Amino acid sequence: MRIADLPKYELKPEEIKAVDQIISKHKGKNGAVIPVLQQIQKRIGFIPIDVQKKVAVQLGIPDKNVYGVATFYSFFSLMPRGKYNIQVCMGTACFVKGGKKIVDNIQKELGIKPGQTTNDRKYSLQVTRCVGACGIAPVIIINDTVYKKVNPLKVMDIVCSLE
Ligand code: FES
Repeated sequence: MRIADLPKYELKPEEIKAVDQIISKHKGKNGAVIPVLQQIQKRIGFIPIDVQKKVAVQLGIPDKNVYGVATFYSFFSLMPRGKYNIQVCMGTACFVKGGKKIVDNIQKELGIKPGQTTNDRKYSLQVTRCVGACGIAPVIIINDTVYKKVNPLKVMDIVCSLE
């Protein structure tokens, strides 16, 4: 994704304050970028591009380094996530057992691609590398719940059962 395609996000005053506190707690420490981004994501739900720039300025490192970290690790999100974050494992075992079909069905039904969130902010879709549960492939994870041996044709039963 190009930086120019990322959505602008207006931080609320309390979010600005929280971001400033997180950064100042780590300022001057080695290896501060990852913990700072982790805490910001935990607080805001994702890492807006303007916040990345702020992190770079305040930690005294180039923008591209912060962007590089934020895009390298799949647990960081540059886009707002939905109430239900659906992660579909696309590691080899899951792929072979229907992971691709699972992604295709969710895409078709929700009208979003991996990395996107529905307009009502209810669902986000992501694909991940192996999550270390190959024995129960194919696997999807929705928020903190792992669903094992998912039937690709019935994946929407799971998604639709979320209140
Ligand atoms: S490939 Fe999906 S859990 Fe390993």
